[in-house]
Amino acid sequence: MRGYLVAGNWKMNGSAASIDALMTGIIAGAPVSSGVEVLVCPPFPYLSSVAAHVAGSSVALGAQNVSQYKSGAFTGETAASMLRDVGCKYVIVGHSERRALLGETSEIVAEKFQAVLDVSLQPILCVGETLAQRESGQTQLVIDEQLGTVLSSSGVDAFANAVIAYEPVWAIGTGMTASPEQAQDVHRYIRAILEAASETVAAGVKILYGGSVKGDNASGLFSKPDIDGGLIGGASLKSADFLAIAAAAATLS
Ligand code: PGA
Repeated sequence: MRGYLVAGNWKMNGSAASIDALMTGIIAGAPVSSGVEVLVCPPFPYLSSVAAHVAGSSVALGAQNVSQYKSGAFTGETAASMLRDVGCKYVIVGHSERRALLGETSEIVAEKFQAVLDVSLQPILCVGETLAQRESGQTQLVIDEQLGTVLSSSGVDAFANAVIAYEPVWAIGTGMTASPEQAQDVHRYIRAILEAASETVAAGVKILYGGSVKGDNASGLFSKPDIDGGLIGGASLKSADFLAIAAAAATLS
């Protein structure tokens, strides 16, 4: 049993006051189910205050990004060891916003993925195609390149301690969710790539779906055999909306 992971990616949203209120709601209502792990990924400045909220609860803490470098003269960067220090368990790498808007190549993403593993945290590797790429039949090619770059640099065994998030770019923040069937097709394809290298690792790795997941579509997505939870943006900013998604996973687990 892989279990579900329901992860909130807050992106660059919130304030000390709003995050305090959001966390109070999430902690109060997070499902108590061994089959579901709830994760929140706040902006960097709030990691420590959110760490205080999650202490003693079953909710995990994660970061949205990390430096590929270990330490030293990299002004403005944050090392993986620092994220571990403040209580993170997971780190998102390769989100499409960082690839498209902040110039992250698959090679940089692969370095970040390994930097996270090197300090014994779990990377959540985001992959996914744009609408133009889907419409021109390139979805699998994009996955091949984005996943393949990490696979060839870190090796398949690295995925025993990693999570993958399939996030079609056209579904992020647009309200256009991939259908459960469209998502399942790509999730199966991703798992098959790993299967070719290690059946054991492929069977164990969680593959999350991200892109306009809401309380009313989560169940359909999460009931597919290769969908092991969600990476939630907009709907993770309100505790009731986020908890409805976590509850959908708890019902299925
Ligand atoms: P969304 O974002 O749920 O707002 O579509 C998902 C993500 O970008 O991780």
